[in-house]
Amino acid sequence: MSVQPILEVTDLAVDHGSGRRRKRAVDHVSFTIAAGTTLGLVGESGSGKTTTGMAILGMLPIAGGSVLFDGRDITGMRRSERRALGSERQVIFQDPYSSLDPSKTIGYTLAEPCRIVPRERRLSTAEIADRSAMLLRRVGLSDDAARRYPAQFSGGQRQRIAIARALMLSPRLIVCDEPVSALDLSVQAEVLNLLLELQRDLGLSLLFISHDLSVVRHVSHTIAVLQGGQIVEQGPAQQVYEHPQNDYTRTLLAAAPVPDPREQRLRREERQRSRTMERTQ
Ligand SMILES: Nc1ncnc2c1ncn2[C@@H]1O[C@H](COP(=O)(O)OP(=O)(O)OP(=O)(O)O)[C@@H](O)[C@H]1O
Ligand SMILES: [Mg+2]
Repeated sequence: MSVQPILEVTDLAVDHGSGRRRKRAVDHVSFTIAAGTTLGLVGESGSGKTTTGMAILGMLPIAGGSVLFDGRDITGMRRSERRALGSERQVIFQDPYSSLDPSKTIGYTLAEPCRIVPRERRLSTAEIADRSAMLLRRVGLSDDAARRYPAQFSGGQRQRIAIARALMLSPRLIVCDEPVSALDLSVQAEVLNLLLELQRDLGLSLLFISHDLSVVRHVSHTIAVLQGGQIVEQGPAQQVYEHPQNDYTRTLLAAAPVPDPREQRLRREERQRSRTMERTQ
């Protein structure tokens, strides 16, 4: 039995810049995501992962190829149709420190996606508050979090809030762009487990973007490897990990962090240092 794909990307091309500065960032990219599964999209910095994710979300124009969401072509859609589809696709970004507006309460931030919904399907203020409280509990926070501000939460808690926000409109596909890369290792595992649990309970489909193959391995059913804007290898996760066909994939695998506690501690300290420096700049 074949499962109807939630996403079918064929020969996708995406450009950045305009005029003479126009540059093709992604080319001939094709993959599908079966409903309820995760595709891990890996590749080094600049390989085109975020560009691919943004194009799929309709946040960047497509220069060639097609993107079918649940069988519907999003490329030629009018703005109103795209808007209606918007609620079915959501995104979680890497940086939990900048993805939440520091001047707004968590409750306000969670209600935000509800404002783009067409008027006739819009929830009342009370319904939004109920749903926010339910989702905050679902991601492991207490519902009084709605009254607080981002600064009162840790990085891991902020990523939980970003997940709750992504779930507000019951999406079917979530693009997770390096969702745990900025977090400490122990917190990474917690957030990844939460995503897995939510996927199981809600039947979510995920495009999981990461440069870190050890992270992708735990969450992905299939894997696509991007290099210089093109897919150089893809297949079932186990196959790609255990029998990589491509030299670039082998290089990436060799560079993936080893589960060595000392090495992990050093990396964690390095991350904490760079975060502290960012905050004091
Ligand atoms: N707004 C932009 N304007 C011009 N070029 C861009 C823009 N965003 C990305 N690019 C270029 O497109 C290519 C792909 O970038 P992209 O951000 O998709 O890579 P990535 O795989 O997500 O990298 P990273 O792991 O660093 O997030 C790179 O060459 C990048 O320099
Ligand atoms: Mg990126």
